[in-house]
Amino acid sequence: MNEKITEYQTDVLIVGSGGSGLRCAIELCDQGIKDILVIGKCKLGEAHTKEAEGGINAALGNVDKEDNWLWHVKDTLSESGYLANGKQAELVCKNMIPDIQELQTMGVPFNQTKNGKINQRQFGGQTFNRTCFVGDYTGKAILETLVKQVQKRKIKNLENIYVTQLLASKGKISGIFGLDFESGQFVQIQAKIVVLATGGYTRVYKTASSDQFVNTGDSIWLALNAGLELKDMELVQFHPTGMVWPEEAQGKLITEGVRSEGGYLTNSKGERFMQKYDSERMELSTRDRVARANFFEIRTGNTTPHGGVWLDITHRTPEYIDERLPKMIQQFKQYGNVDIKTEKMEVAPTAHYSMGGIVIQPETGETKIKGLYAIGEATAGLHGGNRLGGNSLAEIIVWGKLAGKDIAKKVKKFKQIKVNSKIVQNEIERIQNLFSGTKSNPVVLRTELQKLMWNHAGVVKNEKDLQKGLTELAILKELTKNAKIKTGLKNNLELITVLDLEAQLATSECILKSALARKESRGAHYREDFLKTKKEWLVNLICRQDLKGKIKLTKKKVVKPSAEVLKFLKKIKEKYGEWKN
Ligand code: FUM
Repeated sequence: MNEKITEYQTDVLIVGSGGSGLRCAIELCDQGIKDILVIGKCKLGEAHTKEAEGGINAALGNVDKEDNWLWHVKDTLSESGYLANGKQAELVCKNMIPDIQELQTMGVPFNQTKNGKINQRQFGGQTFNRTCFVGDYTGKAILETLVKQVQKRKIKNLENIYVTQLLASKGKISGIFGLDFESGQFVQIQAKIVVLATGGYTRVYKTASSDQFVNTGDSIWLALNAGLELKDMELVQFHPTGMVWPEEAQGKLITEGVRSEGGYLTNSKGERFMQKYDSERMELSTRDRVARANFFEIRTGNTTPHGGVWLDITHRTPEYIDERLPKMIQQFKQYGNVDIKTEKMEVAPTAHYSMGGIVIQPETGETKIKGLYAIGEATAGLHGGNRLGGNSLAEIIVWGKLAGKDIAKKVKKFKQIKVNSKIVQNEIERIQNLFSGTKSNPVVLRTELQKLMWNHAGVVKNEKDLQKGLTELAILKELTKNAKIKTGLKNNLELITVLDLEAQLATSECILKSALARKESRGAHYREDFLKTKKEWLVNLICRQDLKGKIKLTKKKVVKPSAEVLKFLKKIKEKYGEWKN
């Protein structure tokens, strides 16, 4: 087998070419750092950020004058079931005010109000209209703008690189090892600083709003093996509205923007059922409540022909729908030939966002390994038990910039650390050993894992299902060790599937174990055998791998917000930490 290793060296390596990675690269460049390399598993401009639809939060007060960053923090914390890190919430809400203006200056064509300000819509769980948007393709518009800015600055990038291991010695990062799966060569990149911007892990589920190739838990696998702590792994957000049919479109996101623009949900009996679940906020209730309402209606059997519930926007004028929801029009036309201006949409919950991830220093994104940073959906802290719609694009922009600034200050003091050739040799042998399997088909194993997670750790959970999930997971883990794949490193999709599976299995184990441990319901974590939210569970769950490869859990106190925020909460009579599901 070809064992050639292509070697690179750079000051700063950014792993991941989505919004957070690119925003970080731009900041570094603008702070005078020139030796930057961005690598991605996919092509530049194809990262998952492009799938974000409805918007990005910034408390500008352009539509509702009373809004400000304190209200934004309040909504973020209460939506999170008070599991969000207070410092992180404050950082994102304050920074988004200048950061959104900067995005506009860079070229993001935000929809505007009549008097030329950035327009804002209301998303679920928000006190005010706060979500800035570009129709219903906000993520795509942001990613395209960032790509142009990266190209303008001539920042180097490599595509099709699959990172299989972080290289670190004595608590300091020295680079990464991986595979260029297009050329079929191993890749070693030596770097003073590495930024993990590799996205989340919702693709451990059968139905998810991302495609198969991304959000497979790569960062979780890399972090566990490097000895880092993970947090809140049980906290997975299910979006209430994913596509139901045709099969190839199942799970694709139907933006909350539809409900924000007046769309409403009905069941097969024509009942506007949100009345039963949250009669005050109705379809703009918190995301977890709407997702559960859809789930329960479907479980009861009140379903549409393809097993979902109806989402209806036909009462809006065609011109309005054209302006606000162009992507939805095109998506439903392309898949299923449905005209959303005259026909109802069939929708059902879809795995949408990983609130858990790598533990970071709030102000910088730095991890416990010196020189290793993590940003974006790969991290934990901002969202706690439930993410506010529109806060994910905010998170990637804020931490892309914060990490960039911090790295720019420190990188000159860092030295290149020699890569440990023994670790590299072991990793090559480990990958080569993957070809010695003789039995199971990896694609079948992946499908089985995704079904298992959907059925045993989905929208509604209980002890029996989670335990069964763990038992079945152990079997899949063993089968994966003997998965049969064709040889060769070049464009070998079977090999990629096995590498993904390793990450997906490790991630799933963290989710199942943490979900089993959290014996309460809070936000998106809904245990039908423990319906109450419990004071003693106002803690974050930390996950790490011990030296024998076992996942260990510990509890950690939630980081509270500042005195200024606590005073504000008191003033508006929101009791921090006293939260009802
Ligand atoms: O529904 C949406 O457009 C999703 C937005 C988000 O998750 O932030």
